[in-house]
Amino acid sequence: MKIALTVNGERREADVWGGESLLYALRERLDLPGSKNACEQGECGSCSVLLDGTLVCSCLVLAAQADGHEVVTVEGLGQDGNLHRVQEAFLDAGAVQCGFCTPGLVVATADLLERTPSPTDDEIREALSGNLCRCTGYQKIFDAVRAAAQV
Ligand code: FES
Ligand code: FES
Repeated sequence: MKIALTVNGERREADVWGGESLLYALRERLDLPGSKNACEQGECGSCSVLLDGTLVCSCLVLAAQADGHEVVTVEGLGQDGNLHRVQEAFLDAGAVQCGFCTPGLVVATADLLERTPSPTDDEIREALSGNLCRCTGYQKIFDAVRAAAQV
């Protein structure tokens, strides 16, 4: 089936099968490999994207459900060729080890700061509780989130 959606501000179309996830369609059909596939079960958050402004695990959303909707991936957060402030903060804080969790954490952090510009540590913990880092570099991730909140 054909779907048409807006991804990172651009109108895109894809030919998908009925059971295909949005994550698969983004990565394999729309050439947007930033969202990662680590568990494909909604457990790790590495596939986090914004669907009509709501943070979702794209592995749990059917591509067909995104038909006619708006998706923002980690590739679409920055503007005019510049990194998003959360991406800058992750770089500056050295909050990346293998990097597999990073795109999801960046999208989830950007979403948090959009809703809560000055989050407490508990609010950061809660907002990022669905994003797992198997390299366990959480201290620097928290440093990055706090730094991004101050920009
Ligand atoms: S790949 Fe979607 S939550 Fe892990
Ligand atoms: S940096 Fe490796 S999983 Fe987070």
